[in-house]
Amino acid sequence: MTTFTAINLVKRPAGGPITKELFEIVEKEMPTVGEGQFLVKQNHMSLDPAMFGWMSPDTNSYIPPVELGSVMRSSGIGEIVESNHPKFNVGDRVMGMMGWQQYFLSDGQGLNKVEAPLPDEAILSVFALPGITASQGYFNVGKPKKGETIIVTGAAGSVGSIVGQLAKADGLHVIGVVGNDEKADWIVNTLGFDAAINYKTDDLDAQLAKAAPNGIDMFFENTAGPIQSLIVDRMNAHGRVMVCGLIADYSKEVPSPGPSWVSVLKRRLTIQGFTMPDHYAQVPELIGKLTPYVMAGKVKHRSHVLEGLESAIEGLNLFFTGANKGKLIVKL
Ligand SMILES: NC(=O)c1ccc[n+]([C@@H]2O[C@H](COP(=O)([O-])OP(=O)(O)OC[C@H]3O[C@@H](n4cnc5c(N)ncnc54)[C@H](OP(=O)(O)O)[C@@H]3O)[C@@H](O)[C@H]2O)c1
Repeated sequence: MTTFTAINLVKRPAGGPITKELFEIVEKEMPTVGEGQFLVKQNHMSLDPAMFGWMSPDTNSYIPPVELGSVMRSSGIGEIVESNHPKFNVGDRVMGMMGWQQYFLSDGQGLNKVEAPLPDEAILSVFALPGITASQGYFNVGKPKKGETIIVTGAAGSVGSIVGQLAKADGLHVIGVVGNDEKADWIVNTLGFDAAINYKTDDLDAQLAKAAPNGIDMFFENTAGPIQSLIVDRMNAHGRVMVCGLIADYSKEVPSPGPSWVSVLKRRLTIQGFTMPDHYAQVPELIGKLTPYVMAGKVKHRSHVLEGLESAIEGLNLFFTGANKGKLIVKL
């Protein structure tokens, strides 16, 4: 009997680091490929902070939790190794939600062919969730104008780094908030941000004043944390806050208090949360907006690749420690 490895979620995290006890590593029998089906060998999986939400018991979110005892949810890229499907052939590269497993049996629903002649890492780092999220938040929610000031938290991350580079290319003044000096150096000296603030240092308000002498028009929020309210207090009239992620709160039972509503009122701010499942129909349009920037060499990325399916488990903790340098990917 030929088998493959999969990882099931068996317990929900209760705060603190992600550990092996939450998962069960199982050997599954290789499926028979029926009529209208094909078998994908997954080669690269994306790890995403959204997984913390998917593992939680919260049923009142934008997507249902992963059921206990089932394969952990994730997106990835693989190659078709067997096919009885008229539209998908052996050798085709496909992308979609395949979960934490080496092989995936599909009827084609939810999987898309990857035609671009780019490595899997580049697709997952730019043209998959990071790029479409950055484009939706920056263009459609933020409605940027040349000359404005934007601040991006999680600025060296996969989403934040793309947002900052789009804004720089559009002629905005771009400030990034990061958690260490290496990331501060990377976003300024490699990506071209105008300024970086390390949120783990002192005098954040003084640093904000220096980096944003004309106030802040757009705030692309990926993290939450104490700098959030300081940023909102420095926003200009009719500023826009794009609430993309709040990673500092993902493992807390009680989220941090939000910014002052007095600032929201006085500056007539628009605050909008968004999650990508609402916008999957717009993916072609979002990729269409992003692609010219990438083609012009204005969007650089870095991928942080872990080796082997099981590395996904403890790899998730890198999001919380900030030890991920760029898009977290697991190579199978
Ligand atoms: N709305 C959507 O549809 C959508 C889609 C994709 C992603 N997201 C969200 O976007 C955010 C970024 O995602 P990503 O995939 O690009 O991850 P990422 O930024 O590559 O990685 C997460 C980063 O968050 C920072 N971080 C961790 N704990 C923090 C804390 N307590 N305070 C401040 N920063 C902290 C760390 O960077 P430092 O070293 O700089 O601290 C870490 O590297 C996440 O919140 C994610 O949930 C939302």
